[in-house]
Amino acid sequence: MAQITKLPKLGFLYLDYVLRFFDYSNFKGWPDKIEEVTYHWKNDKNRFINEIKRKKIDVLVGNIPATAYETFKEIAISLPNVRFIPSIETQFSNKSKENVTLFCKKFKIATPKTIITYDDKKADTHFKTCKYPQIIKRSYGASNYGGYFVHKVDNYKEAKKLLAEKKYKPVYSQDAIPLKDAGDIRVMLIGHKPVCAFWRYSGTGEWITNTSQGGDMSYRNVPMAALELAVQASKAAKAEYWACDIGIDKNTNKAYIIECATAFAAFPYIRDWIGQYIMWDLSAGRFRLPHIPLYSWEELGKMDSSILRTLRHLYFANYEPSVDGAYWLSNKGDFDMELTYESNPSDVPASIEPPVSEDKLPQMLKEEETQMISNLPEDELYDFDTVSLTELMTLQGMQEDVAVKIKELLSENSVKSFEELDLCNIISQNQISQWTKSFK
Ligand SMILES: Nc1ncnc2c1ncn2[C@@H]1O[C@H](COP(=O)(O)OP(=O)(O)O)[C@@H](O)[C@H]1O
Ligand SMILES: [Mg+2]
Repeated sequence: MAQITKLPKLGFLYLDYVLRFFDYSNFKGWPDKIEEVTYHWKNDKNRFINEIKRKKIDVLVGNIPATAYETFKEIAISLPNVRFIPSIETQFSNKSKENVTLFCKKFKIATPKTIITYDDKKADTHFKTCKYPQIIKRSYGASNYGGYFVHKVDNYKEAKKLLAEKKYKPVYSQDAIPLKDAGDIRVMLIGHKPVCAFWRYSGTGEWITNTSQGGDMSYRNVPMAALELAVQASKAAKAEYWACDIGIDKNTNKAYIIECATAFAAFPYIRDWIGQYIMWDLSAGRFRLPHIPLYSWEELGKMDSSILRTLRHLYFANYEPSVDGAYWLSNKGDFDMELTYESNPSDVPASIEPPVSEDKLPQMLKEEETQMISNLPEDELYDFDTVSLTELMTLQGMQEDVAVKIKELLSENSVKSFEELDLCNIISQNQISQWTKSFK
């Protein structure tokens, strides 16, 4: 392979209030300076675009949260020569559950049968004729609120009652998958190769899989069908890195995508692998493509998570097959780490147009969210020492990775109050004053 002499200029895409997925340490060995650009929300578009131009950034690496997706579509159009990793098209599914469904439909990826509509009559007809149970979800907004916006209904009456209460728009409802082993599977991929996967089981008496509500997890016995479906979704999304939540129907053993996105929580050693993969991609092979044996997660998963959290820069040598190893290798050869194809606008499915103008919608959603949060029962004031991950996720504007980080600091006894989190540079003053209202 021809060696390229000049590497592209890399930049990290950061946003105020959003936990940083990557930093320099994930790109160990990159010889050039890596720039940083931080988006400050509210009317910051032009300044942000100019900063990228001024710093002559060729490649911008980082996740775009749901609430900034539309703005970043515009930003990307103004920067036609900048490559976003993952591409804006790849991040389509990050925005909402309805986008996940539209994505799966476009690429014929198995997902529960779902209705998405703004039309109350259509919704009513659906709930009169659909099979039950149905899972009704709020489509838009930060996902992974630990099921806070996900509900199971068993009949027409329950569905109507729930929608009258929640007023979700669009109405987003899907067939409930009878989940095998009362769990779902998280698969993480780099360059379309599964690098980590685990079962998340629901707590006793719970139907929803939620490790913060007494559920459990296991790195063992992740079925091939889940890995194959995850690879299919990753390839369709052209994702450099990707995660899927997958449910297995216990009656048919068929795998279905429940959620998928480029934004997910991952241990630092996984983010290091992603960094290595991106360096390989951008250097035309000057940096080594990381080799991560399939199912190595079963072995790594035997370690305590407090150890896994501190492991860095794991390196697996390529296995030299002996004669008796050859069969085993050829059997698992379907999962090569690959270069992703370039995204183009036609990768993105057509969206379902809301019957109100786009600029009114964010306001409506904000009101809906405020109403929902303020509807929490009065006695739901949390205790800082005992607050669960799920409860943290119900705080307005909370992101999964921020909540995980806070929970981590709490359990290490590193912080004792919300104010102290400011010192750790995790959240803003604004968020502190907003979120402390929910605490005793
Ligand atoms: N169609 C479905 N069938 C069965 N279980 C589901 C279905 N949709 C969601 N669940 C369960 O609810 C959990 C939360 O749903 P999800 O769509 O991931 O929302 P969020 O993570 O944003 O709260 C899933 O992890 C899964 O356990
Ligand atoms: Mg989820």
